[in-house]
Amino acid sequence: MFESVTIASKFGLNERAVIYPRDCRELLHRIPAESMKLVVTSPPYNLGKEYEQRLHLTEYVAQQQEVIRECVRVLKPNGSICWQVGNYVEAGAIIPLDALLYPVFAEFGLRMRNRIVWHFEHGLHCSRRLSGRYEVVLWFTKGDDYVFNLDPIRIPQKYPGKKYFKGPKAGQYSCNPLGKSPGDVWVIPNVKSNHVEKTGHPCQFPVELIERLVLALTCPGDWVLDPFLGTGTSIVAALRHNRRGVGAEVVDRYLKIARERIQQASEGTLPVRPMNRPVFDPKDAGRALLTAPWLEPENGHQQAVLLEKGPKYRARK
Ligand SMILES: C[S@@+](CC[C@H](N)C(=O)[O-])C[C@H]1O[C@@H](n2cnc3c(N)ncnc32)[C@H](O)[C@@H]1O
Repeated sequence: MFESVTIASKFGLNERAVIYPRDCRELLHRIPAESMKLVVTSPPYNLGKEYEQRLHLTEYVAQQQEVIRECVRVLKPNGSICWQVGNYVEAGAIIPLDALLYPVFAEFGLRMRNRIVWHFEHGLHCSRRLSGRYEVVLWFTKGDDYVFNLDPIRIPQKYPGKKYFKGPKAGQYSCNPLGKSPGDVWVIPNVKSNHVEKTGHPCQFPVELIERLVLALTCPGDWVLDPFLGTGTSIVAALRHNRRGVGAEVVDRYLKIARERIQQASEGTLPVRPMNRPVFDPKDAGRALLTAPWLEPENGHQQAVLLEKGPKYRARK
């Protein structure tokens, strides 16, 4: 099933994996029109991370527009674009990037099919607003006759043994035996600390997030493009399902990680969190992690003191 791939650095339709080691706009100009089935990416969020220069928002949107225009050009008529974004933050105020970018996609004639909410548990703990625990994937198609394979991404039913209790189908199972649709809220752990896929990149995609999109929106042999490739996750997900992958990245350190991961993925040795593994439930942790003396019912007095003295006191404890 696995076959070591040669990773090309120039785009060619006969390649299987291409990493272009420069600006994505240069790569996009080299890709023929209507050749990509899926464009999936997470662009820089303009937060001033090490790989981006913070721009005025209008300049940021104009730069994104330039990339999006080219992505639309290279997209097949039955293809999809999935743009994964979170919030831009300025002086403590948040601006949802999907709201800023939606008009750009609409202006290019794309149609939104879903705004997928990706929920995860780990991230910064905010003290002046609620901590951010989701980002979104904007899924657009170029036309109405788009590829959408629901079966490979079905998830287990909540009650798989449920049967019709009356009518002509009484006694038969009432649910689809292949499972149910995953819906538009996806609970998938983000790649932090001890996630099996963690590299040195600050905001890597979990492979399972992209695998779902690849399986649903492409067919074997199709091209998947990620203009902001980072550690190569989109190509990893494409190769794992017999698709082809191409992407651009500008930081040498990430290029090296991407090449290693893609090679390992093609050889079947890359550690990956399996799709549809249930999210860890703290109830399965050891008891020591679930209890604290000040939460025990007999320590009512201690609880009252904690509430009164506030978080600083709690932290010292
Ligand atoms: C949010 S990260 C994407 C991470 C990626 N999804 C992964 O799984 O590793 C955005 C990436 O785009 C890269 N980048 C920024 N500007 C770029 C450009 N003009 N062309 C290509 N890559 C760029 C950054 O270096 C960064 O690694």
